[in-house]
Amino acid sequence: MIEDNNIYSAEITGYGYDGEGVCRLDGKVCFVRYVLKNEKVSLKIKSSKSSFCKGELLKVLVKSPLREEAPCPYFTKCGGCVYQHTNYENELKIKLQLLKNQFSKIGYNKEINFVPSPKQYGYRNKIKLFVDRNKIGLKKNESNEIIDIDKCLLVDNLINKAIENIRVFINAQNLFDDISEIVIRQEENLCLINFIMKKNKVLNFQGLYLMLGSNFGIYQTYNKITTYEIGQKFLFANELGLSAKFNVNSFHQVNKYLTSQLYQKVVDSIMGDSVVNCYSGAGVLSGVLSKHCSRVVGIELGKAEHFDAEKLKEENGLFNLLNINGDCAKVLYNLDEDFETIIVDPPRAGIDKKVVESINNSLCKRLIYVSCNSATLIRDLSYLTSYQVCEVTLFDMFARTGEYETLVILNRKA
Ligand SMILES: C[S@@+](CC[C@H](N)C(=O)[O-])C[C@H]1O[C@@H](n2cnc3c(N)ncnc32)[C@H](O)[C@@H]1O
Repeated sequence: MIEDNNIYSAEITGYGYDGEGVCRLDGKVCFVRYVLKNEKVSLKIKSSKSSFCKGELLKVLVKSPLREEAPCPYFTKCGGCVYQHTNYENELKIKLQLLKNQFSKIGYNKEINFVPSPKQYGYRNKIKLFVDRNKIGLKKNESNEIIDIDKCLLVDNLINKAIENIRVFINAQNLFDDISEIVIRQEENLCLINFIMKKNKVLNFQGLYLMLGSNFGIYQTYNKITTYEIGQKFLFANELGLSAKFNVNSFHQVNKYLTSQLYQKVVDSIMGDSVVNCYSGAGVLSGVLSKHCSRVVGIELGKAEHFDAEKLKEENGLFNLLNINGDCAKVLYNLDEDFETIIVDPPRAGIDKKVVESINNSLCKRLIYVSCNSATLIRDLSYLTSYQVCEVTLFDMFARTGEYETLVILNRKA
């Protein structure tokens, strides 16, 4: 019987959905991270359920030729990256195979296109750090334990400069019991930092701002109320010729080197159509679409994102665009206008059953589903029975991690 803390040696035969290795122990499936197919490893059982167990890698006994030295000292400790122990080509191959396996479950067995990330490190424009008991860092995999970090290889140097100075600031004033999280966002050469507070305490950021310099802006949030403190107020980006301005709390795609390619693929697929863009965020894709489509309606729940979307519309003179601030489940159901294309780009949880119902009952000839979670994507596609999958593309928006973005083009069944 497989029991916690028992030690086994096993051969890795494949991969699970998050890129973890799979082996069999006494006929039971065991998942273990940071290993590669065909490697022989020794592992310790961390948890065992009736149908599967999870193991912790102790030692690689026989290495795969595709194994590489991870460049980050926190790899395997911090839960962020999954693939630093192999080359990027192999990472893409694994991700593509995992996505193919998912799509074969719904009967789609055609080729899947893929677009690699132009950069495997330094591509992220956002990081969320956790603060507690003398630690500032990222969370360990499947745990609330914080791994102290000095820098993260996935983000740009400007964000790492912020991390270095924030650490000095927090240490000097012993603010570990006051701050719970820190969100740092960057666009081009500007950076905004938002300190999420545990207590209603106003901090003096003058010293930190002097260390960081004028490219930075600082905000503080308590009880979901965000206040501007010092420095830059907004972030600015240019996406496919459209100028966008972001406030500290609004959404923007995290891989600055791949977002334009994702948006371009959407534009190329629906040129000239009338479009409803659900889960539209800060309105960048809606804005890009409005230049190439007859009419665009964006639906977004977040107030911060809607505010930015309205500004973007105004500043770029986009008169065929309507931004609606509301829940897609309700707004889509009540829209009494017909569109040629529906786009959905939901959060990881996927789309609501009411959204599925509205899409199935719509007259749209085409549906574009952009997803950052292939499990909920496949679930939702199996419910979207009025539509047929025509083309699938993997955009590796989250290189080195277990995640990726998938763009699916579906046509209405005859
Ligand atoms: C993955 S982001 C997509 C953003 C956008 N498509 C883009 O490319 O920037 C998902 C967005 O959905 C919004 N959202 C979450 N639940 C929603 C809902 N029920 N109705 C409308 N928008 C929602 C979030 O605030 C977030 O901005």
